[in-house]
Amino acid sequence: MKIIAVANQKGGVGKTTTAVNLAAALAEKHRRVLLIDLDPQGNATSSFGLQEIEGQSLYEPLLGEASVADKILPTRLPDLFLVPADIDLAGVEIEIARMDDHLTRLAKCLRVLREDGTFDFILLDCPPSLGILMTNALAAADELLTPIQCEYFALEGLVRIVRLIERIRASGANARLEMGGILMTMFDNRTNLSSQVVAEVRAHFQERVYDTLIPRTVRLSEAPSFGKCILEHDPNGVGAKAYRALAVEFLRRHEVETEPAQSVIPSAVQRSETESREPVT
Ligand SMILES: Nc1ncnc2c1ncn2[C@@H]1O[C@H](COP(=O)(O)OP(=O)(O)O)[C@@H](O)[C@H]1O
Ligand SMILES: [Mg+2]
Repeated sequence: MKIIAVANQKGGVGKTTTAVNLAAALAEKHRRVLLIDLDPQGNATSSFGLQEIEGQSLYEPLLGEASVADKILPTRLPDLFLVPADIDLAGVEIEIARMDDHLTRLAKCLRVLREDGTFDFILLDCPPSLGILMTNALAAADELLTPIQCEYFALEGLVRIVRLIERIRASGANARLEMGGILMTMFDNRTNLSSQVVAEVRAHFQERVYDTLIPRTVRLSEAPSFGKCILEHDPNGVGAKAYRALAVEFLRRHEVETEPAQSVIPSAVQRSETESREPVT
């Protein structure tokens, strides 16, 4: 089980769009996914057509007053589950700031889900501000998935994220936090700017950058107003195709060790393969 923080301290870069549609595309591939809406604005929650329900958020679990398991709701997709956000979440920062373990409250909440193996992936849709909720997300996550808009200053934003990761590691809140993947969003193939930005980010961050590019398309931006993910709203459009491709690439990156490649190859073939790979002296 992996916990992925969809994070970038900049707003409007496609965090929520990515968290919602990657979660849906992974669930479509029968991975059990939990999406946690950590943004008090609740955009991921409303993207599924859900109204905010008072008391149905991470607020109580973060304060130690309830289990996160009690806050999980089903969605229309059988393998996708959601912990919604509610307005109380905005106040939780102040309440937990006083606690000694204020950076690791979320990590502790999620421990039960790490241990019971219900989910293959937990995606955290982070708020843009660099507050306690986002820091908690980074302290609880195995790695980040950072959406970056194909715009000027993309690199500057990434440099800030690298520093933030270093700070979290150094603080002791999460020494194992990995940078994870970078996803280029709102790619516009009609402009040179988009391609230039992608080339520049790839030159610096190399294979961290996903091959999959998310195109700019109005279908992705209008889907939430119908309370639908892109797979429901425009299943055959470029947006759905891109997020399905992202899910495939994401799984390739995360499930390599667990792929049963070895066991399906007859042992004789396996042996000759190993032999043929041995250096010729
Ligand atoms: N690939 C895309 N093409 C067009 N619009 C997009 C795309 N991705 C996101 N948007 C829109 O851009 C705005 C910001 O995206 P959002 O995912 O909410 O960003 P964040 O969560 O980082 O603030 C939203 O209105 C969203 O619908
Ligand atoms: Mg958002």
